[in-house]
Amino acid sequence: MDNLDAGPDAGLVGALRIAPSILAANFGALANAIQVVDAQTDWVHVDVMDGHFVPNISIGPPVVQSLRPYSTRFFDCHLMISDPARYLEAFKKAGADGCTVHVEVGNTASLISDARALGLRVGLAANPNTPFDAVVPFLGDIDLLLLMTVFPGFGGQSFMGDVMHKVTLARKEIDAAQLALNLEVDGGIDRDTAPIATRAGANVLVAGSAIFNQLSPLAAAQALREAALAGQR
Ligand code: DX5
Ligand code: ZN
Repeated sequence: MDNLDAGPDAGLVGALRIAPSILAANFGALANAIQVVDAQTDWVHVDVMDGHFVPNISIGPPVVQSLRPYSTRFFDCHLMISDPARYLEAFKKAGADGCTVHVEVGNTASLISDARALGLRVGLAANPNTPFDAVVPFLGDIDLLLLMTVFPGFGGQSFMGDVMHKVTLARKEIDAAQLALNLEVDGGIDRDTAPIATRAGANVLVAGSAIFNQLSPLAAAQALREAALAGQR
């Protein structure tokens, strides 16, 4: 299993990770979509929306379960849902490797310990207008911090460069405290914005449209990785 404990990701917290968001793929052919980009991607980003926390409905545990046999990659489930406590176990059973909950839903400390108790990698997400201070108390208890670069709910939106000040703050904090924490950005990431995000300190880049809405998703993923690496130099 390619997760953070074993396999290719072992000990690589902080390494560049390209996480294609299947929200932008053809839902009628998801298994094929993730296999086509496999050679140039590292994780699989699963956007879960409940029509309540965000004004859109996407996919849930049955889709994770159906996709699991088709990929050995780390399944990074982004829960844009109001009541994650109710579904963490279902995601774990379906084959999720990590679940990310939004700090805006509250009850954060208990959600983190619930996810941990289930054996999940734990992420915490913050919307673009949520201050960095809101996530600081939890940085020592999570595996991943997701700083949204769009308001969640829909793919294909424009990258919000203002969020980079939070990415910079987070990177400083992670390095200063030597935290084993991945720093992820999500929303509007493409070849132009990827280097901006990696320069600010992000190491996990989620991209939907910039991969799956391209003529060659595999070539697009490779180009994204090269652009992201250029930002790290
Ligand atoms: C937004 C989702 C993102 C989104 C990214 O609600 O969390 O993962 O699908 O899509 P693009 O890359 O198209 O902005
Ligand atoms: Zn997402």
